[in-house]
Amino acid sequence: MSPGRSAPEPVTAVFESAGAWLPNGLAEVEEGLLAAAESEGPLTADAVATLKAGGKRMRPMLVLLCAGPGGGRAAVRAGVAVELIHMASLVHDDVLDRAPLRRGRPTVFAESGRGRATALGDRLFSTAFAVLAAESDEFAIAELSATAVDLARGELMQRRGAFDTALSEDEYFERCRLKTGRLFAAACVLGRASVGGTGKEVMAEFGHRIGLAFQMLDDVLDISGPAERTGKARGTDLLDGTVTLPLIQAIRVQPALAEVDLRELSEESAVLFCDRIADTGALDSVRGRAMALIEEAKARLSSSGLEQEQVRLLELIADGVVLRYS
Ligand code: IPE
Ligand code: IPE
Ligand code: MG
Ligand code: MG
Repeated sequence: MSPGRSAPEPVTAVFESAGAWLPNGLAEVEEGLLAAAESEGPLTADAVATLKAGGKRMRPMLVLLCAGPGGGRAAVRAGVAVELIHMASLVHDDVLDRAPLRRGRPTVFAESGRGRATALGDRLFSTAFAVLAAESDEFAIAELSATAVDLARGELMQRRGAFDTALSEDEYFERCRLKTGRLFAAACVLGRASVGGTGKEVMAEFGHRIGLAFQMLDDVLDISGPAERTGKARGTDLLDGTVTLPLIQAIRVQPALAEVDLRELSEESAVLFCDRIADTGALDSVRGRAMALIEEAKARLSSSGLEQEQVRLLELIADGVVLRYS
């Protein structure tokens, strides 16, 4: 399995430097994803394309790394369930954001319409729970259902704050915690739980921080592009009314930016607005804050009780978050 589409990817270094147990585990996750989805009946072409479109598989990798070389079927199962929830949330997110591109190809929403994307997202969501329920994995079901609720709360919060250039940093961070940090945290917790490990709280703290940093950098990439490397047009968030940290920080430097009506933006003017945001220095500032969170996350690992090799690989994946381009 290839872990990603373009280099450098956050997962590549980890994939290459871990023992065979990691690629083997990820290959099992890959098989499990297809098998789980197909077990509910044959998949349509858009569903197969969504599963195979080349996601980084970062969350299953976190599950497997937190479980370690001894992680067995429970870890693979958790990896499959977490990735299915992630994919479902992306298919739905693209409906909510009216996004044209995902992973360098047309979204299900753009290709097959709102109805199919809603139904396919529902199917992927439900399949995640069916995978866990088949083995009566009660802890994982509880953790993942609470996570799915938080994801939905995050997306609802994003809709509530749409087009509001007065959005506060606190509101931004709360939204990111819910829509992104929570699933990263769950991946780490479920990996640890799959081997009966202690220290789930520390794992959640680690996962949360790298998830938050990941979203902050995703929001920077939306402004900085380049589109050829990110797989989506610059300014997609702005066009959708999503106010992110780069804009919030840019407004602090240049309050006049808050006067721009995001509803009025066209694809062309959105790109120009991205340049105005970048000119304030906001992107570097957000990158710096994301990196500080990654350092905080790594510091948590010293009290995690994990094997040294697991810590090394988790540090590598945490560092890789800042190198990502898709
Ligand atoms: C995209 O996540 C959604 C965000 C949380 C920013 P990924 O960048 O992990 O998506 P894939 O799975 O690799 O496409
Ligand atoms: C992340 O939000 C999506 C979810 C966590 C569901 P974004 O809207 O920023 O993600 P992209 O940019 O579409 O990948
Ligand atoms: Mg989106
Ligand atoms: Mg985004």
